[in-house]
Amino acid sequence: MLVTGAAGNGGQAVCRALAQKGHRLRMADVAPPPPDVLALGEFVRCDTRTADDARRAVEGAQAVVHLAAWHCAHQPPVSDATIFAVNVDGTFNVLEACRAAGVRSLVFASSMAYGWGSVYSVTKVIGEELCRSFHETTGASVTLLRYHAFVPDFYLEYGARLLRNGVDRRDVATATLAALEAVAQRRVKLFRTIVHTQHGMPAEVVGNFRELGPDWCEQQVPGARQLLEKYRIELPQKVEQHDLSEAQRVLGWTPAIGFLEFLRDLQRRDARGEDVTQLHVPGGLLDWSTDGENEGENKGAKVL
Ligand SMILES: NC(=O)c1ccc[n+]([C@@H]2O[C@H](COP(=O)([O-])OP(=O)(O)OC[C@H]3O[C@@H](n4cnc5c(N)ncnc54)[C@H](O)[C@@H]3O)[C@@H](O)[C@H]2O)c1
Repeated sequence: MLVTGAAGNGGQAVCRALAQKGHRLRMADVAPPPPDVLALGEFVRCDTRTADDARRAVEGAQAVVHLAAWHCAHQPPVSDATIFAVNVDGTFNVLEACRAAGVRSLVFASSMAYGWGSVYSVTKVIGEELCRSFHETTGASVTLLRYHAFVPDFYLEYGARLLRNGVDRRDVATATLAALEAVAQRRVKLFRTIVHTQHGMPAEVVGNFRELGPDWCEQQVPGARQLLEKYRIELPQKVEQHDLSEAQRVLGWTPAIGFLEFLRDLQRRDARGEDVTQLHVPGGLLDWSTDGENEGENKGAKVL
């Protein structure tokens, strides 16, 4: 199967998750991924803005995960014109290549930014519509995933973001894998879902987190209150939560990493005397290259 944008932050995590499940991988991007990801399959250099490149990348693939895009939070920033060209023309070319190659299974990276507030947001509206048209005209099985934010950030910012619009990169990867399996097995026709985190909080805590959150966290993770104060983690008045039950029912996917997992991880680092204030993480707690070894211990967020 083909993953476009395989060298990106999400693409690397998705490729690792697919390879761990034994999927044969073709990775397409303008530049190769790092060596450990490159070793997981075949790499095709491809600029999706060029129809021939897209055709070469898609040829022979049974299923496609289309992640290649620029987003407005990208560092260094990318112009709106480039965002539009890559996200719209690039998606059009990939879908036309899928049509020509008879691809019957597609996962598309949409975003919670979907809307009309920026050029990037609009490219996701157009991208979803192009995918919908691809489904309507070919009968292909298609899943559109509206990811929340998983851009690389400082560790403490990443943790606070989980209470807002953030999701762990590992959950992005597991959701994408679940979506791919659903389209490959043709269990869905056209399905769209949100990819966000979940904390298992009672509704009153969700609605009044600033007041009730610290006590609730303390009950779940003894010592949490002191950590929240020590690291000055800014608490939202209300926690952003979505109903993810449809994703659970249709894809069999639920997110694994919420604010409590972050607090447990922070507690371990704090106990080790680690300076987490300068720690940078790739939008997730785990370093996938050591994932598995660290399962349940969760000590490997990578310093970028
Ligand atoms: N990161 C987030 O917070 C977030 C949130 C919602 C949706 N998304 C979506 O998820 C997907 C992956 O995001 P990410 O954070 O991994 O992005 P990223 O910027 O880390 O990676 C994007 C990849 O696309 C590649 N690319 C760019 N132009 C290309 C072209 N013309 N042809 C081929 N490859 C090209 C880049 O080289 C890069 O490797 C994107 O579609 C993005 O819009 C991301």
